[in-house]
This record gives sequence, structure tokens and C-alpha cells, in this order.
Amino acid sequence: MKRSIVGLAVTAATLLAGACAFAQFPGMQQPKHYPWSDASLSPDSRADLVVKEMTLDEKISLVHGQGMPFFSNAPSESNGGAGYTNAIPRLGIPAIQMADSAYGVTRGEAAGRYSTALPSDLGAASAWDPDSAFQYGALIGRELRAEGYSMTLGGGVNMPREPRNGRTFEYQGEDPLLAGVLDGNVEKGVQSVHIIGDLKHYAINDQESGRNSVNANISKRAMRETDLRAFEIALGISNAGGVMCSYNRVNGDFACENSYLLTDVLKKDFHFQGFVLSDWGGTHSSTKASHAGLDMEQPDKIFFGDPLKKAVESGDVSQDELNDHVHRILRTIFATGLFDHPVVKQVPDVEGGYRVAQQIAEKSIVLLKNQHNLLPLSSSVHSVVVIGGHADVGVITGGGSAQVDAPGGSAVPAPAPKNMMEAIIHIQWLPSSPLRALQAQMPSAKISYVSGDDPQAAASSAKSADVAIVFAYQWESEGMDLPTLDLSAAQNQLIETVAAANPKTIVVLETGSPATMPWIDKVAGVVEAWYPGIRGAEALAGILTGAVNPTAKLAITFPKSDADLPHPKLVLPPPESEINFSDPGADISNIMSRMAKGLPAFQTYYDEGLKVGYKWYDAEKKPVLFPFGFGLSYTTYAYSGLSVTPGDSTAVTFTVKNTGKRAGTEIAQVYASLPDAAGEPPKRLIGWARVELAPGESKQVSVPVSQDRLTVYDEASDSWKLVPGSYAIRVGGSSQDLPLHQSVSF
Ligand code: BGC
Repeated sequence: MKRSIVGLAVTAATLLAGACAFAQFPGMQQPKHYPWSDASLSPDSRADLVVKEMTLDEKISLVHGQGMPFFSNAPSESNGGAGYTNAIPRLGIPAIQMADSAYGVTRGEAAGRYSTALPSDLGAASAWDPDSAFQYGALIGRELRAEGYSMTLGGGVNMPREPRNGRTFEYQGEDPLLAGVLDGNVEKGVQSVHIIGDLKHYAINDQESGRNSVNANISKRAMRETDLRAFEIALGISNAGGVMCSYNRVNGDFACENSYLLTDVLKKDFHFQGFVLSDWGGTHSSTKASHAGLDMEQPDKIFFGDPLKKAVESGDVSQDELNDHVHRILRTIFATGLFDHPVVKQVPDVEGGYRVAQQIAEKSIVLLKNQHNLLPLSSSVHSVVVIGGHADVGVITGGGSAQVDAPGGSAVPAPAPKNMMEAIIHIQWLPSSPLRALQAQMPSAKISYVSGDDPQAAASSAKSADVAIVFAYQWESEGMDLPTLDLSAAQNQLIETVAAANPKTIVVLETGSPATMPWIDKVAGVVEAWYPGIRGAEALAGILTGAVNPTAKLAITFPKSDADLPHPKLVLPPPESEINFSDPGADISNIMSRMAKGLPAFQTYYDEGLKVGYKWYDAEKKPVLFPFGFGLSYTTYAYSGLSVTPGDSTAVTFTVKNTGKRAGTEIAQVYASLPDAAGEPPKRLIGWARVELAPGESKQVSVPVSQDRLTVYDEASDSWKLVPGSYAIRVGGSSQDLPLHQSVSF
């Protein structure tokens, strides 16, 4: 008894001492009350109250970063992310701690933190599911908060005008409506937990090669209807607090000092109320950028530190203009709830993250070919050989600033880096083993693995197995483009050799972009798993064994070859306009200042204009390998009974029936062909629905189509117009399988 009283006293003393220490943690202090603490005021009024109290130095401190902690000695205020703005303790304004988080929170390795690696963005887009997109964002938001961050740098929604773009895996596919709705929901999810959302890279940053020097030439109409349309839709849904302007030039001006993009379109037409921050090193001036609408330089203060202060003092930049930048940043801190819900670190919910990652992966994996219904693997399959792609140990991830580090280190160790670039960017494999997941889900089958390094050895193992599954991958990363959509020659050769030995060969692809498939007629099945995330193998095994019925459909066209792309050859910069990141002596501050000075420009001409993705192949009548919107299921669906009632919101009603023997979810798609006078590609997506159906069940589905989905951008009047005439509304299961159609007049 005595001992326990002593024990209690000691515990109480420890707790008291602890409480004093806790008081130093953010969120544990009694918040001080300021006039702008009143949450009943609007975010704008609260921001105005703060701006009135601020000194010039405080204002300037809010519009720039403090260096790049990842590369240099992290200043003590940094949380270890890609960038941050300082807090202003006198006014109770929190720091904005930013972390890249395209498919999960990054820089875990350097900081010793765990984050969930979700399926790649393009993979997750194949779910065509706004709810999953919201869950995707909310998980990222929760983990950012748990790790002490207050802003995401995810939200990539560039169009794949160049599908070899090394960041295609970070984006949401080729249709502006689909991409905008999904990205909007991701950012809405992020902001639902009071973390500042972000949309990037604004705009026309559609290739990585020479991204700091390329000048994208594109018509206003093409921009507004495609690349900018995706941003507009995403912004409308999410009210994201941040928009990151991109590295490249657009029609002459750098995106971060382009008044058409930042002011005319984003702030005026889209009514964006948040702040524009530059991509890292993408600011090139003080006055010009400030006038054009850039609100914050990241990660440095080369232009928005002292030079901007001087410009304000000399009157080159007005107080009002500076106040607007500051107001936008503060307003966002209030509007997202960051001020009222300060970030408090905690251990991330690892199990919860696994669950979300697996659910989304199951909805993301696309079944592309399934000859003779070889899949799902039935109980009569007694032996399976898994070949190649490191499928014994893990699944691949996308690289660059989006890299979510593998817990416990990469499942396939990376070779020692030879230069700075390799130290930052190298292939990482998550410890989610397809081999082990299949073994767990098919306990009575013999499931073995061969590396595929020796195609003949792989073929002889395939010969003696009931089914062979070849894993092939294409790694991609920020800062580089794929030279081609072809897989490596060695992987194509391996697939051919195995398929020749066993016709029951299935290929599983882990790619960030579409891949070409010269062997398509020789294999029985193809499954596109993308970069499937930390529970990718488990989700994949569910699809292969039939525990999960695939539902996903492509958010990007798979062309037959590079030759069919709008730009058959990747447009490469001349050597003098590239920074040599592979230079072993390269130092980041040097690189940043060279980027800031502006490298010699080279041109890309996006003459395909409106014809992005399926719109290109449709218009040019080029057959494709797998069309936009395509994906198989283990059941089948039939469409009937289309009725279209035109109006401000056009009601498109039809019936979908599950004609197979398994429950499934069909992604039913609605397209419109506009009148000829509109001068549009043959059709555009105007809506879709995910329809859950039991075997034999029919459901009537109604897809509302708002009029803005049918309008075109008129350059002469700088406005959107509904072209009068006849509109063909088409409905079906992919962009090339549209059995229902009805014409209506507007
Ligand atoms: C990328 C951005 C990223 C930033 C910070 C840049 O190189 O283009 O997408 O958010 O770095 O890491």
C-alpha cells in the first residue's frame, strides 16, 4: 500500500513536470485571444484584421520561403518538408509547413517517419470515384497533420499532352472533367482535416524535359478547354487554398509571372481566393511576378525577400498589391481552419492507412485482357509461376519529389548513388510482395518465383506450370521523361519467350504511363496495376484470384505505339537550356539561382490543341491498343433505354443490367458529340456513374449534365458559348463502346 502511494506521488510529479514540457508543444498551449480569433467572422474579415496589425517585415516574411531544408542544414523552424513560411508568434499566425504528398507524405526516410504509400494518382483515377478520391486526400491530410505539416504540395492535374511525361503517374489522366472532379475531391479530402490544399503545376507543364526552359505554345481555346479546365473544375470542387505555378513558360512568359494565367484566368475568371506559390525555383522576378499575381516565392527569398521589400518601399509594387498577397495567405489559414485547429503531431494510423490503400488499389487495377476467362484463377489451377519484376519482394513506386519512402527501406536495395541526382531520385520498391500475397490467397496451389533474368529458364518453369504470370514495370520520375512508352527490350523479350512456352501467360504491368504491348496477341491476360501502393500486392492478388471483381477503367488511352502520339518524338531541349543535375559537384543553391536567372528558352508547339488523349485518336482515326474508359470485369453489362431531356441541367437516363453471374460495379460513361459548327473533336466525356449491380439486376441511372459541360471557349469574346445545333449523346462502357445514342437540340 505504502509503495503504491509513493508510486502515485512520483507519477503525479512526473506528470506535472511533463505538463510544463507539454506546454511547449504546438496545440497544447492555451491559445491567446486575438481579435481575429473570433471564428464567427469571415476568413476575409479575419485576414483584414491581421493585415492591419502587420509591419512591412512581417508581411514580407509571409510571402517567401526560408530555404530548402531537405538539401541544406534545416533551419530549426522547419518540419523537414520541401518548404515553409515562418510563423508570426506576435500575431498568433502559424507557420505553413509544406510537404510533397502526391500519393502519400514524402521525405519519410530523411525524417524517420512512416507514411502510407497510396496507389499512384493515375492509378487511383481509374476508379472514376469521387468518394475514393476524397478518402485518398483525407488520408494524406491526416498523415500530413500527424507529421506536423499544414499544407500539401500534391494535387497534380496536368494533362498528358505528352504521355511519356515522367510525372504522368502523379496526374489524373487525359480528360479535364474526370481529372478535375477527381483532383477536386482529393483536395477537398485534404482540406477536410484543416490542411491547406494545393493544385499544381499551373500550367501546361506537360513534359519534364527542359521544364525550366521550355516555352509551351498553345492557343487560348485549347488551354481553356483542356489543361486549365481541369484546374477550374478541381478548384470549384475543392476551394484549394494553394495553386502552384509551374516552371515553364506559356506563350512567352514564365508561368509564375504570367498575368494571363495568374490574374486574368485564375484570380478573375476562376474566382480563386487562395494564394499562388511558385514551383521550387520557379520565381524569376520581383515586380513582374508580383504584378502578374504570384503571391509567394518558394522555397527561397531571392525575389520576394529584400528585393520585394525594396520594390514596395520605392513604390514599384504598391502596398495594396503586397497586402493582397498577404491577405490571400492569411485568408487561406483561416478558411481551411488551420488557425482554429493547430497542427498537433501524433503517430499516424498505420493500419487505417493500409485499409484505405488496399480499398483504393482494388478499385484502381484495370483488367485489360482476359482470353477464355483465364482469370480469375480457378480452383483447377494447381501451379503458378510468378516471373520477374521483383514480384517476390515488392511493388514499384513513382520517384521524384512525390516519392513516398518504403517503410524499412526499399524492398529492392538501390545501388550506391553516383551523383546528387541519384542520391535524391532512385527506384524504390514497397514491401508488398505479389508472390506472398498470391500464396496467401491460393493456399492449395504451388506458387513459385523465378527472376526472369534468364528468359529460357523462365520459359521452362512456365512450361511446367498451369499458369505463368509475368510482372513487367516501367519506372518514372519527376525531372525526366520516358524515352518511349515501350517497356525495356529485355522485358518484352521475356514476355514473348514465356508466352511461347505457355499460352496461359498473364502479364501484370506496374507502370506510371501507358505501355505499348507488341506481344498483346500472344498472351492470355493483361492486368494494369499501375504503381499500386503499400497494399498493392494484396489488392492485386484479390483481383487475380477473383476475391475482388475488377471495376477500374482507364483514365488514359493506351496507344499502339509512340508513332501514334500527337508528338511521335519527344521534344527535347538543346543542351544549353538544361541543368545538368547529374553533375556530381552540383549544388542545389547554385541550381536554384541558375533556374531563377532563367535558362535559354526552347519551344514546344501544342498544335494538337483540343485533341488531347482519346480526342486525338478519335479525330485522327488512329486505332488504339486500349481506349480511354476501357476495363473488363468478371461479369458483363448491357445498356438500354436511353432518354435525354435537354435543359439547364440535361438529364441523361438509361438502364444498365448485370448480365453475368457475379456482382459488380460498372462505370457507365456519357459522351457528347457537339454540332459541327463547334469545331470540336468527335466527342467529349460529359458525365459518368458507378453502378453497383447484383447478378441479373437492372438499374435505371440518371446522370445530370450541367450546361457548362457542353460549351466551347470562344476566343473572340473570351467567353464560353453553347453552340446551337444538334448534340449526339452517347452512353456505354468505354469511349469506344457506346451502344446508346440520342440526338437533342440546344
Ligand atoms: C516540383 C514540385 C514540388 C517541389 C517541392 C519541384 O521540383 O516540381 O512538384 O512540389 O519541387 O518539392
